[in-house]
Amino acid sequence: INLEGKSFELPTLEGTENEKAIDIAKLRDLTGYITFDPGFKNTGVTKSSITYLDGEDGILRYRGYSIEELADKASFLEVAYLLIHEELPTQAQLDAFSAEIQSYTQVNQDLLRISEGFPTSSHPMCTIAALVGAMSAFYSTDEAGDDEKSVLRLLAQLPVMATWSYKKSIGEGIVQPDTSADYCSTFLQMMFAKPGEKYTADAVVSKALNKLLILHADHEQNCSTSTVRLVGSSHANLYASISAGINALWGPLHGGANQEVIEMLEAIKADGGDTDKYIAMAKDKNSGFRLMGFGHRVYKNFDPRAKIIKKAADDVLTALGVNDPVLAIAARLEAAALSDEYFVARKLYPNVDFYSGIIYRALGIPTDMFTVMFAIGRLPGWIAQWKEMRANKEPIGRPRQIYTGATSRAFVEI
Ligand code: MLT
Repeated sequence: INLEGKSFELPTLEGTENEKAIDIAKLRDLTGYITFDPGFKNTGVTKSSITYLDGEDGILRYRGYSIEELADKASFLEVAYLLIHEELPTQAQLDAFSAEIQSYTQVNQDLLRISEGFPTSSHPMCTIAALVGAMSAFYSTDEAGDDEKSVLRLLAQLPVMATWSYKKSIGEGIVQPDTSADYCSTFLQMMFAKPGEKYTADAVVSKALNKLLILHADHEQNCSTSTVRLVGSSHANLYASISAGINALWGPLHGGANQEVIEMLEAIKADGGDTDKYIAMAKDKNSGFRLMGFGHRVYKNFDPRAKIIKKAADDVLTALGVNDPVLAIAARLEAAALSDEYFVARKLYPNVDFYSGIIYRALGIPTDMFTVMFAIGRLPGWIAQWKEMRANKEPIGRPRQIYTGATSRAFVEI
């Protein structure tokens, strides 16, 4: 077919289930869901073979593997390997990958000094974005093989630097990573152990965290990921590109939403906990109230990640015996929204941010760290997207603009 002077080949809708799904996605592109305009080479037309997402049917797959199966059976590092290296690792490859990451956990002490210079009140997203950006001042990014080292260093050190920020905010000394524990347990130990104390992470908490990180590991071309690709398209190094991604994720409309959800629930609790009142306000456009954590730009169905987290949240709350009035308010809001015609008609289901905030709270993660957890989870996805963009030799991003200002004006001297 010919559209606006360009010819496109119509998809055949034949072949395997996966090929058909890809054809359907292409057909959606052609029929206006997305303007597929490769001529402009901007972030809206990126091709990628990392994450497949179907917002109509609520399907999410990393490199062809279903998110449900990965969240159930894989470890976060297996998924990180899959995203970055395109294949699931063998046991030997996974052991080598984990050992390499562990060998990079010692962060440069000058970065620690920079971190200590931040005010105690600094939001941890601000601190980690700055520290990751600063990494390129300390490590080479110019020679062959440096990118692979940067990948390992980031995977090893982002969680370490994230816990520095938290420890500082509570006035406690930092805890060194325990390289004999798994990725999630090491993180929990650095967060919750007192310096010098022996600490063993709770297996329920560690397992739930593993699942959460997997569910956040990639989500095709969202705001932070396309930022990483766009910044990297100018050949800015991996640290600079990931730092930009962390800043993009911080915003309350993106990764910051899970923090907003808990703050909203706290505010509802402080106001007496009347969820019916807030459901009514959410339906009233003039109320000024926005129900955080409901609806998603691409999912016209339940976000598949939300389904998995909801179940995990229920299991964690039961296993840990958590009895938290804020979480009870969340449960009432969820039930009301799922049965209310207004929300059902608009497909405003609770999304991943709604449940992730709840589960992080149940795991004892402080609210300011919620978005940081998202960043730690998303890191392998950002890395994979950056590497794919560079491997494809994509040209520098140049988003398209439609000019809406004055056509031509004469300068008047004052
Ligand atoms: C994400 O996981 O990045 C969010 O759901 C936002 C998005 O995909 O646009």
